Amino acid sequence: MSLIKELDYGTPAKIATQLVTLEIDGQSVTVRAAVEIGTKVPKLCATDSLEAFGSCRLCLVEIEGRRGTPASCTTPVEPGMKVRTQTAKLGKLRRNVMELYISDHPLDCLTCSANGDCELQDMAGAVGLREVRYGYDGANHLKAEKDASNPYFTFDPSKCIVCSRCVRACEEVQGTFALTIDGRGFASKVSAGQAEDFLDSECVSCGACVQACPTATLMEKSVIELGQAEHSVITTCAYCGVGCSFKAEMKGTEVARMVPYKDGKANHGHSCVKGRFAWGYATHKDRITKPMIRASISDPWRIVTWEEAIAHTASEFRRIQAKYGKDSIGGITSSRCTNEETYLVQKLIRAAFGNNNVDTCARVCHSPTGYGLKTTLGTSAGTQDFDSVLEADVILVIGANPTDAHPVFASRMKKRLREGAKLIVIDPREIDLVHTPHVQAQYHLQLRPGTNVAVINALAHVIVTEGLVKEKYVAERCEPGDFESWRAFIAQERNSPEAVESMTGVPAAELRAAARLYATGGNAAIYYGLGVTEHSQGSTMVMGMANLAMATGNIGRVGVGVNPLRGQNNVQGACDMGSFPHEFSGYRHVSEDATRELFERAWNVHLEGEPGLRIPNMLDAAVDGSFKGIYIQGEDIAQSDPNTRHVTDGLRAMECVVVQDIFLNETANYAHVFLPGSSFLEKDGTFTNAERRISRVRKAMPPMAGLADWEVTMALSNALGYPMTYKHPSEIMDEIARLTPTFAGVSYARIEELGSVQWPCNEKAPAGTPIMHVHRFVRGKGKFMITEFIPTDERTTARFPLILTTGRILSQYNVGQQTRRTENTVWHDEDVLEIHPFDAEQRGIRDGDVVALASRAGETSLRALISERMQPGVVYTTFHFAGTGVNVVTTEFSDWATNCPEYKVTAVQVRLTNHPSEWQERYRRDSIDLRRIEAAE
Ligand code: SF4
Ligand code: SF4
Ligand code: SF4
Ligand code: FES
Repeated sequence: MSLIKELDYGTPAKIATQLVTLEIDGQSVTVRAAVEIGTKVPKLCATDSLEAFGSCRLCLVEIEGRRGTPASCTTPVEPGMKVRTQTAKLGKLRRNVMELYISDHPLDCLTCSANGDCELQDMAGAVGLREVRYGYDGANHLKAEKDASNPYFTFDPSKCIVCSRCVRACEEVQGTFALTIDGRGFASKVSAGQAEDFLDSECVSCGACVQACPTATLMEKSVIELGQAEHSVITTCAYCGVGCSFKAEMKGTEVARMVPYKDGKANHGHSCVKGRFAWGYATHKDRITKPMIRASISDPWRIVTWEEAIAHTASEFRRIQAKYGKDSIGGITSSRCTNEETYLVQKLIRAAFGNNNVDTCARVCHSPTGYGLKTTLGTSAGTQDFDSVLEADVILVIGANPTDAHPVFASRMKKRLREGAKLIVIDPREIDLVHTPHVQAQYHLQLRPGTNVAVINALAHVIVTEGLVKEKYVAERCEPGDFESWRAFIAQERNSPEAVESMTGVPAAELRAAARLYATGGNAAIYYGLGVTEHSQGSTMVMGMANLAMATGNIGRVGVGVNPLRGQNNVQGACDMGSFPHEFSGYRHVSEDATRELFERAWNVHLEGEPGLRIPNMLDAAVDGSFKGIYIQGEDIAQSDPNTRHVTDGLRAMECVVVQDIFLNETANYAHVFLPGSSFLEKDGTFTNAERRISRVRKAMPPMAGLADWEVTMALSNALGYPMTYKHPSEIMDEIARLTPTFAGVSYARIEELGSVQWPCNEKAPAGTPIMHVHRFVRGKGKFMITEFIPTDERTTARFPLILTTGRILSQYNVGQQTRRTENTVWHDEDVLEIHPFDAEQRGIRDGDVVALASRAGETSLRALISERMQPGVVYTTFHFAGTGVNVVTTEFSDWATNCPEYKVTAVQVRLTNHPSEWQERYRRDSIDLRRIEAAE
């Protein structure tokens, strides 16, 4: 349990890093900032997350030898300075200032939602204000209208002291520039956008202004409703791979608010709308909190005890194995669950099921990252920590949309771009980053979907043929033979920007200029997302980026690197924990005898040395009749995986589908056992973010279903006859550390001590590893790989002339099980199809029309949004709402090396329609038929 309030140093750490000896109020002190020794200099406009501003004049001090009373927040300490912070003169000046504030402030402290957490109230006390000589009758703002349009916070201008902290937070911390101070003097006021309400403005609801506000002007609605919290628990966001730290401020077992944690090393006290506000799903009425079973999916669910559910599952799995063979069952681990839970599920499958049929959702997102980076660099993870971006001079963003999908990291990236770093964006769409306040991409290479590899090869071609290779770096650090073969390959004319221009749609001159900038602009860093990996050549593209970075010497120090922006909160961890059918934890192949023997000794069981089935293989085998049972923890493959019809056919063909989740998700429609899951607030464990940072998840409330997910897996293992006896997730982490060299130094005690730790963490790096491959690559010498461009088999035709590509938007998370059950739906309550005006006009489509979206795999319908962000010939949508069924349309094509589906390229046709598709009609029927619960009827 932690204190609610953290110390506010008043000025950012960078101003106060050096130790300085000076005299404060007669005492000689060596400090970073005055407040550090407990000197209470009153302040209102200053806070340590923002640059000093010097507007409120409350922090005045006297400095020997200087005239006047300077504001301490804008006056850096100097050695030998003699400062007086508490004199009669200063007290009087401060009271005068406070008097003016209070005379225009509602006198409702006792009933105010900020009572007890209000800096204005604190400062009135600190300066000893006893009376307000001006009275309260003059001109004031007390009747200013409250703006409650935002679903999560209110803006009550009657309480505003115009300190600008909100405006500066929106600019400096978030980088959105949604707020301004309108007017001058007495008339000045905070204004969102063009004097709109918050909901209609540019505001992205990150909450930075709410956090910065010293009064109740900007206030969380949850606090207004519940009151101030009485304790807090530090934990990690359960949404995206940024892995922000939060203080869950609690009132008993209820969350009053989530406040981004200042000492969180991934987020440094910042947040986005999802982690900050969209946590209401955790206690949503749709939560299923009791286990359920049914003999057939056409039966209603029957609520049972945990004992019955576990015994039934174990007996079904053993029955199936006895009848169809040991390999007829398998499981899927969850990137939303903790490392410890994920580790246990793969252990259950390998040790208790007796096979390697385990896979994870990374199969459908970053499996090519694993393959590509491991092959070239030696380990399948991002090379940098997030802070590294602050030293980048050139930022290359490929197939990622950080402002929507990784917003807190995007804010840091935008800060660096505002400082002058150059930006190259490679994306078929004009993502926000291309033009955002005070940021303008130098180059936007708006390629045709499916031509990534041709573009990366052309960039490398320019570097090789124009003599821009860092020869010394390559000679010292990379395999010489592989490099020479690659150099000869990439230098071929067919890889030149001119040769690929017509196919990629990227003007050759622009591509050449971008390549020169990347190679010569200083520290160059690549950040990429699923627009790279979810292609038939996803792994080739990852290797192409590693080639580019090695050739230009851009790996192995701060400010450079190749960095996957991971989608789900613990997708890095799920991969690290051995969730793939061919690897144990730490990415060691199951066929390596020494590794397998290590696990066999530790687990006291025989282990298979042949890789098991991947998710698509499991589904194929189910349709073929040889795969009959599956345990799916925290994944919704019926919505998230491509070619929905094939997925649901596979699930329907199985005899025992076990789904463990917090809601009856789409996959549960085809399940025979439902085991209620626990949310991140209900359990202990760890998540690993996209920078390999392992952070604690701490229990803030008891599990609603009585058991945390790791306890359920353990019970199932015991029922299957393979004993597991962990008493706490820390014991699971200790086992992981014993068996995984890159985790050897990780323990809950170490995480407690350091706050969080980035793997590898072992004897060589006891405090973890922020930057990888510093002196040598993990594999020894970097390996250049030939990256031949082979166009996808998914081609546009006269019947399907457009290309569909998919992605995520800020307020939405993945398939929506969480965010659909929050107020985030106020921003987007349906998936829409973005289409270029030219394509729309050709088809007679107007904004808001319902259109049919058809591919050779299937058809669905949704509303059209005409958008200049698209290029002609390309349409885009999200996959947040199950009823849209976007994955009904996506195909079975996948990455050649990893089977990662080709979500980003589907040939489609779009036409006007006025009714739901056949699939949607059936989905609506199934949603009612397959979700019936007996006890509720
Ligand atoms: S919530 Fe964030 S984006 Fe919105 S006004 Fe506040 S700081 Fe700006
Ligand atoms: S809304 Fe809050 S932070 Fe913004 S100017 Fe008013 S008091 Fe200051
Ligand atoms: S950026 Fe990601 S981890 Fe951070 S608060 Fe938002 S969703 Fe959570
Ligand atoms: S806190 Fe220094 S002037 Fe406001």
